[in-house]
This record gives sequence, C-alpha cells and structure tokens, in this order.
Amino acid sequence: MTTKTGNHVKKSANGQAAQGIARGHSQRIAQALAQILSNTYLIYVKTQNFHWNVEDERFHSLHKLFEDQYTELAAAVDLLAERIRMLKIKAPGSMQEFLKRTTLCEADNEVSGNEMIAELCRDREAISEEIRLHIEEATNLGDHGTADLLIQQLRQHEMAAWMLRSHL
Ligand SMILES: [Fe+2]
Repeated sequence: MTTKTGNHVKKSANGQAAQGIARGHSQRIAQALAQILSNTYLIYVKTQNFHWNVEDERFHSLHKLFEDQYTELAAAVDLLAERIRMLKIKAPGSMQEFLKRTTLCEADNEVSGNEMIAELCRDREAISEEIRLHIEEATNLGDHGTADLLIQQLRQHEMAAWMLRSHL
C-alpha cells in the first residue's frame, strides 16, 4: 500500500505534464524563471536600499519613486515564484539561492542619487533583455502562460526604466 502510494507520487512528480507542458520543457522554463526571479529579487532589495539611503536634493521625489518601484517588484517576485510552482518545480526562496543564480551585482554603499538611478536603469535594461529571450523560448516550448507573465514583467521593467531615466 505504502509502496503503491509512493510509486503513484513518484510517477505524478516525474511523468505528468504541468500546465500542459512536457516535463523536460517545464524544467527548462522553471530554470529560466528561477534566474529571472533571482535577478528581480536583487533589484527589489537594491531599490529598497536606495529608498532608505538616498541623500539628494530631490530626496522626497526619489524616496517615493524607489518606494513605488520596490512595491511593484515585491509583487513581481511573488508571481514568478508561483509560476515556478505551477510548473511543479520548487522555487528558490533564500538569499543564498538568489545570490547563487543572479547575474546582476549588489550595490556599493556610497553612491549618489544619480548613480543610484543609473545603476537601476542598467539593471532594468539587463533584466528586460533576459526576459525578451525567455518570452521567445517559452512561446516556442508551448508555455503561453509563462510567456504572458514574462510579457507583463517586461512591460513593468520598461516602464520603470523610463521613470528612472526621466530623473537623470
Ligand atoms: Fe519607507
């Protein structure tokens, strides 16, 4: 009985498609989502750091801009992690795992307001480029749900980069 249940669980975890996607494909997509999640988390922490530590004559405006952006990023990481779970893969959820996967760099301690904006712009452009590639990959693998999520995320990063650039 126990063995039967065990086998059933094993078969379900390894053999069935999730969201109508073949197992091998969903693993590939989940891996890409895990890296995007890690990069999004890094930008989230950096943006909140800048919200706290910005010293600039435009303090109020930058403090508020960074707050709006880290709030939006907190929602984005949640959607990305939950999409990974829909593909039946464990989502990374620790700072150690995020740092292992991220392709972006953490912030220096002493940066001016303009350097903060320029750095966040570069990060938003880098993650946008990464997301564009994976929209195409998810579409080609038949995962339109992930492609749609990534298109939404791309639009948010492009909007954020535009807002940031307008402060330079
Ligand atoms: Fe605050």
